[in-house]
Amino acid sequence: MRKKIIKYSIIGLTIIFIAIQFIPVDRHNPPITGEITAPSEVKNILQRSCYDCHSNQTDWHFYSYIAPVSWLVTNDVNEGREELNFSEWNKYDSKKQNKKINEIYEEIAEGKMPMKIYLITHPSADLTKNEKQVIKDWTDKKDIAYK
Ligand code: HEC
Repeated sequence: MRKKIIKYSIIGLTIIFIAIQFIPVDRHNPPITGEITAPSEVKNILQRSCYDCHSNQTDWHFYSYIAPVSWLVTNDVNEGREELNFSEWNKYDSKKQNKKINEIYEEIAEGKMPMKIYLITHPSADLTKNEKQVIKDWTDKKDIAYK
């Protein structure tokens, strides 16, 4: 009896797993309308650590093609782009750009960004103390420039 339940559960889950693969997932990279300008040192850090979720240049990894992980990944990318999109930087007025720049270092300093779950699969996106300082210096300067 128990063996049968296990067997049917495995068959059932396998069918569900296969079926959910057919649910469409939107994984597209919209066009870049206006890229943020920053010194290359800063830009490299942002590209390595933030661009997968905060730009239109997402590198869609293989697991982003496998449901249900794909749902989580696309959800983070959509939400991330909505909050902050370095590829559509021109769509923010200078006041909003200033606010976003302030938030960038805040999020990094508090250890909220890049997202912890993302670092499991992208350990190289983790920022060193030195890199955090580079971002701090840049955001501090920007702040003065806009005020
Ligand atoms: C795995 C995807 C992912 C990565 C990588 C990522 N973010 Fe985010 N980010 C999000 C999501 C999702 C949100 C919106 C939800 C939230 O605030 O947690 C967000 C929100 C933000 C916000 C807005 C916060 C607010 O409360 O208004 C800032 C600023 C930000 N991220 C900066 C960064 C920076 C800087 C990096 C790189 C060092 C980065 N993020 C890397 C997914 C990501």
